[in-house]
Amino acid sequence: MTTPRLFTPFRLGPLTLRNRTVRSAAFEGMCPDGWPSESLLAYHEAVARGGVGLTTVAYAAVTPGGRTFAHQMWMREELVPRLRELAERVHREGAAVSIQLGDAGNMADREVTGQRPVAPSPVFNLFGLARPRAMTAHDIEELCVAFARATRLVREAGFDAVEIQGGHGYLLSQFLSPYTNRRDDAWGGALANRARLLCEVVRRVREEAGDRLAVVVKLNTRDGFAGGLELDEAVEVARLLEREGPDALVLSGGFVSKCPMYLMRGEIPLKLMVKTQRRLAHKLGLALFGKLVVKAYPFSEAFFLEDGLAFRRAVKTPLALVGGLRTRARMEEVLAAGFDLCALARPLIIEPDFVRKLERGEREGSACEPCNRCMATMYFGEMTCTERERLCARD
Ligand SMILES: Cc1cc2nc3c(=O)[nH]c(=O)nc-3n(C[C@H](O)[C@H](O)[C@H](O)COP(=O)(O)O)c2cc1C
Repeated sequence: MTTPRLFTPFRLGPLTLRNRTVRSAAFEGMCPDGWPSESLLAYHEAVARGGVGLTTVAYAAVTPGGRTFAHQMWMREELVPRLRELAERVHREGAAVSIQLGDAGNMADREVTGQRPVAPSPVFNLFGLARPRAMTAHDIEELCVAFARATRLVREAGFDAVEIQGGHGYLLSQFLSPYTNRRDDAWGGALANRARLLCEVVRRVREEAGDRLAVVVKLNTRDGFAGGLELDEAVEVARLLEREGPDALVLSGGFVSKCPMYLMRGEIPLKLMVKTQRRLAHKLGLALFGKLVVKAYPFSEAFFLEDGLAFRRAVKTPLALVGGLRTRARMEEVLAAGFDLCALARPLIIEPDFVRKLERGEREGSACEPCNRCMATMYFGEMTCTERERLCARD
């Protein structure tokens, strides 16, 4: 029997978290026209009240050009007072707060941003139905500056941490992946070159974060499709990153434009996905070819654990595991295996107070099945669990 650790404090860089649970970044869709709504503030406040150690506000773009959705936040000065309000409400409930910073790269939506998406190389992207423009050295420098500026804003807003989105097939992960990065300059080719941008972004963010903010990086254990980043290279990326001193890595996997369900597993809510697409081309594409192009992956508890262990053996950086963590028993096993933090998305979508219920022994596991309808709802507006009513009726 291992000593229970889930509800013990953890030191994450300059922060002390009250326990080892993290609300993983999961796009809330609660920023109409890019402005954080009351729903966003209330949701994170509820997760904090619900006992989590660290909650992560999802998917803020570092520039307006890096957005996938019109109801997505992008980092700018005028947001600071609103984000400060969010941070204060979370702090009042005893949790720490982070924000995920990223850029969609080839998945940015031209109808939202008004500009052609950029990427490491001009490889056609089925998700965005677009052929992106290859980034120039100037674009790359601007991106690094944008990450640093966004970090300064997060710091000024009184947040505790930033999470750099280095996985899931977004721009930094597109640089890591041999499938999307076909460059033959200093930013492509050998792994050290493909990892250069992520390392540089971590360095710039680290400089801006100083000793005030923890710096966390979300990283793929593998992309999940043939021709993408594989486990051995991903572990090497973690080794390279270690030199930049991130306070933790969050280990996930998958590439939204190639295998979106790899990162979530479980059912594919295709009908609802067709319904919630805003663009006709996406609706038609999904309705006609969805079953062919969106591959299913069966759900199992802690589905990245085995791949994650290769990172545990390779680096000393604290590690958070995400993906299918559902029961207290399994989370304790994950911690006993050497991970430092357990990150949860869907269990805190269906029940924002799941962590507290675990702590009090009112639940042994999450009620999330997972039907993944929450994911389908995020395309249209506020992301929500359509199964929550079933749960309330059961309780
Ligand atoms: C509705 C929804 C939105 C998501 N949005 C993001 C996101 O913005 N950024 C991110 O890194 N991961 C995102 N994810 C992935 C989750 O953070 C997490 O890695 C994944 O759901 C597996 O964890 P879980 O089994 O605890 O849900 C999202 C997941 C869901 C269900």
